Amino acid sequence: MSFPTDRPRRLRINETMRRLVRETILTPNDLVQPIFVVPGEGIRREIKSLPGQFHFGVDEAVKEAREIFASGVPAVILFGIPGSKDATGSLAWDPNGEVQRATRKIKKAVPELLVITDVCLCEYTDHGHCGVIKQQQVLNDPTLELLGKTAVSHARAGADIVAPSDMMDGRIGAIREALDEALFPNVAILSYAVKYASAYYGPFRDAAGSAPQFGNRNGYQMDPANFREALREVELDIEEGADMLMVKPGTPYLDVLAKVKETFGRVTASYQVSGEYAMIEAAAAIGWIDRRRLILETLTCIKRAGADFILTYHAKEAANWLKNG
Ligand code: PBG
Ligand code: ZN
Repeated sequence: MSFPTDRPRRLRINETMRRLVRETILTPNDLVQPIFVVPGEGIRREIKSLPGQFHFGVDEAVKEAREIFASGVPAVILFGIPGSKDATGSLAWDPNGEVQRATRKIKKAVPELLVITDVCLCEYTDHGHCGVIKQQQVLNDPTLELLGKTAVSHARAGADIVAPSDMMDGRIGAIREALDEALFPNVAILSYAVKYASAYYGPFRDAAGSAPQFGNRNGYQMDPANFREALREVELDIEEGADMLMVKPGTPYLDVLAKVKETFGRVTASYQVSGEYAMIEAAAAIGWIDRRRLILETLTCIKRAGADFILTYHAKEAANWLKNG
């Protein structure tokens, strides 16, 4: 049966009909808001490379967390920017670090809001790499212990989910073991399983002061040209005990996201990263696109491709739009 008998436009005839047959419905439940925490109190400073996003002191981060939860968003992901950096990134596992303090205060103020913590060293190392360095090489195995310590310090502070973003081999197993040994069997691991070496992270690295001081991350993050390798990374992380997987960046990697979801059927997240945000904001600022439509369309597309949830800098704002129709 085909035209003129079959007319797909019948099911698009008006908004009520379109509502009836719509396949993908974006809700606040699908969104996770990143928060950048800096030293000091009373600080709420707009980030140049991420207009509309802020560096928060711990007290301001708590206020922000309340607003986020009120918008209907179920989780935040915390990134810390320490007051000083060193060769091993030792402030990453400091019990009084920005992430640890913010986690404690947010869990106290808004207990139902899930706190995810980004586990990595690049914000804390003076060289800006995600692991321990020797002769300009990022050493894999010595880094694992430090990631384990960092994850445990987040769990002690009350994190619900830890999210390692370093791309060292074996880190999911090492972190699971460290958490279990420290008696945190219920803290979940969201693995940045498929993380590409991407130019889309530029604004984040400005915001976090985490750009590598020499070289680049191509020796540990994935080559954007590779697809089969993504499935291998996911397979390993599942074997090692990842509870949830992430594909990152978001929109440019929807093919990978869809395949990971279809192949493994696990809880799979997408991270719409800082460069994606910056591109939307820049185009909107000069009036070249309809900002709100584009944000909602993009998030819907990421969900349609298979994301169970989306980490996005637009989470709070989009959730408020969705909530209020
Ligand atoms: C830390 C980390 C990065 C992002 C999340 N965790 C930066 C990087 O790997 O260089 C990127 C997030 C974004 O761009 O929004 N390893
Ligand atoms: Zn890193």
